[in-house]
Amino acid sequence: MSTLKAIAVSITTLTIAPAAVAQAQQFGQPIAPADIAAWDISIGPDGAGLPPGRGTAIEGEAIYVAKCQACHGEKGISPSVALAGALAGGMGTLAPGKTPIKTVGSFWPYATTLFDYIRRAMPFQESKSLTADEVYAVSAYILNLNGIIGSNDVIDAQSLPKVKMPNRDGFIPFPRNPK
Ligand code: HEC
Repeated sequence: MSTLKAIAVSITTLTIAPAAVAQAQQFGQPIAPADIAAWDISIGPDGAGLPPGRGTAIEGEAIYVAKCQACHGEKGISPSVALAGALAGGMGTLAPGKTPIKTVGSFWPYATTLFDYIRRAMPFQESKSLTADEVYAVSAYILNLNGIIGSNDVIDAQSLPKVKMPNRDGFIPFPRNPK
């Protein structure tokens, strides 16, 4: 190979190489904000992220009977706990010497978790199918079954975070990074 030809070959290699590397790194494509929004549905304990909408326990009862009762039992008290756990009852059972019955009412520290959980995961076989109004209403119904709110109390983004769950202070805070 003549010196001139060798130089020409090296220059060609130099100019092609970075292009080939850049091409190899082209994985995926930028995600559209609308595509992220469908997954960005976490609700904070303080209610951050709750959408517009509203519902009462009276409205939620019909939704519960149609879409939840088959698995969770009439009035949230599952007779066998075979399909899914009870959603109501068990108050005061998380105490020494008692058999703990953990339900939304006896165990959950924040009412806002109801909206988050039901919207993302229930009905079990048809998750993310309920409207915001339906999730508020059925959350209100479960709170009412547990004697925490009245049957006509409106549950929405303002009122749900203000609901104080009976077991709110039953947890021992454990700081992950103690100073
Ligand atoms: C096909 C059966 C089925 C239907 C219908 C169903 N669920 Fe569930 N649900 C489950 C199962 C199973 C679990 C437990 C899931 C797990 O632990 O991963 C559950 C868990 C839950 C929990 C959490 C309970 C806890 O203490 O951890 C809530 C709240 C709940 N469901 C509400 C609802 C509501 C509201 C509806 C109706 C809109 C509904 N479910 C419909 C099967 C069902």
